[in-house]
Amino acid sequence: MRKTILKISTALVIGGMSANVAAAGDVEVLHWWTSGGEASALNVLKQDLEGQGIGWNDMPVAGGGGESAMTVLRARVTAGNAPTAVQMLGFDILDWAGEGALADLNAVAEAEGWDAVVPEALQAFAKHDGKWVSAPVNVHSTNWVWANKSVLDANGIAVPTTWEEFEAALATLSAAGVTPIAHGGQAWQEATVFDAIAMSTGGPDFYKSAFVDLDEGALGSDTMVEAFRRMDVIRANVDENFSGRDWNLATAMVINGDAAFQLMGDWAKGEFINAGKVPGEDFLCFRFPGTADQVTFNADQFALFDQGGDVSSEQASLASAILSPSFQSAFNVVKGSAPARTDVSDEAFDACGKKAIADLAAAAHTGNLFGSMAHGHAAPAGIKNAIYDVVTAHFNGEFDAGTAAEELVDAVSIAK
Ligand code: GAL
Repeated sequence: MRKTILKISTALVIGGMSANVAAAGDVEVLHWWTSGGEASALNVLKQDLEGQGIGWNDMPVAGGGGESAMTVLRARVTAGNAPTAVQMLGFDILDWAGEGALADLNAVAEAEGWDAVVPEALQAFAKHDGKWVSAPVNVHSTNWVWANKSVLDANGIAVPTTWEEFEAALATLSAAGVTPIAHGGQAWQEATVFDAIAMSTGGPDFYKSAFVDLDEGALGSDTMVEAFRRMDVIRANVDENFSGRDWNLATAMVINGDAAFQLMGDWAKGEFINAGKVPGEDFLCFRFPGTADQVTFNADQFALFDQGGDVSSEQASLASAILSPSFQSAFNVVKGSAPARTDVSDEAFDACGKKAIADLAAAAHTGNLFGSMAHGHAAPAGIKNAIYDVVTAHFNGEFDAGTAAEELVDAVSIAK
């Protein structure tokens, strides 16, 4: 690793990119990885950098999905005090790049051949105007279900593969006095569930028309009404204390057998692993019923903020460390995600991780890979937030399903 960094630093100097190759300093990293599983994964990166003599100045902003982190970031940049590196998703990266706030990583990217190994779906968010502006860490996806195996076994429930089977499983659990779904009532979590429900209800063309193309016909369609009706079914199967609950506490309910299922992205697996649980024995992972062939992805990246000059040697080292194949394996095994490179072996990954990697490759190949609406990979933040508002208001009983679809059309049209 050291050799690679030296090579890159030399390349940067030769290319006239940076004079900043002096003694390694610190990186200040703004992120929202504060749960047990997330913190374990982040430690892999901290230790990697510490091994290179680069100090880690931690700037955690709690709040799954990163909304609060993005608010803090805006304040920091406005105050002229941007962090060195910031965890970021999808369209947010392109927005900051459009503002000219991000450093140019092309020298590192070229020296290490990122173009050839980072999936195209990720490059679409990591590059702006032909320049690499962020370093992709992973690929998560949102259309997963996490289940407590003993709870399913005790109630004679097999893994549901269709919405109808899923509804039947919920009814069985409910009749047995078990909380069917562990849910955290926060807008981004409801939107995460809605990603999977919309894909399952309408299929990939519908998902794309509604959330990527923002087509009014799809947003206000009978299919959308049906998707909201299915959200009513989810709402009827969560416990009464769901409001405001953090996602990792909902995961803990499944881990502890206090609920059967959680509908959540594969960062949830990080919590199971952190609790010493084993896939196939203690818990099960499967695609949301009706979405076996589709993947709605979100990729965490570290955007490197322009510190008033060329990319610093610490920033180059951070980017290089993140993209190294050994780090991609070590980190993502812990985080629950798939690597952000196509050439990393799945050997070290557990059954759920192997499935994540295989599903991702298959979906990319068959045209079934879509950016997650809930995690900023389908539309820019303004539109995402408008969808959040309607989905969460409906979930909390403000609108019926038909009204929610009408409200969605209006909210998106105003946000456009
Ligand atoms: C997502 C992010 C994941 C995970 C999750 C919950 O937006 O991509 O890495 O951190 O939020 O915090």
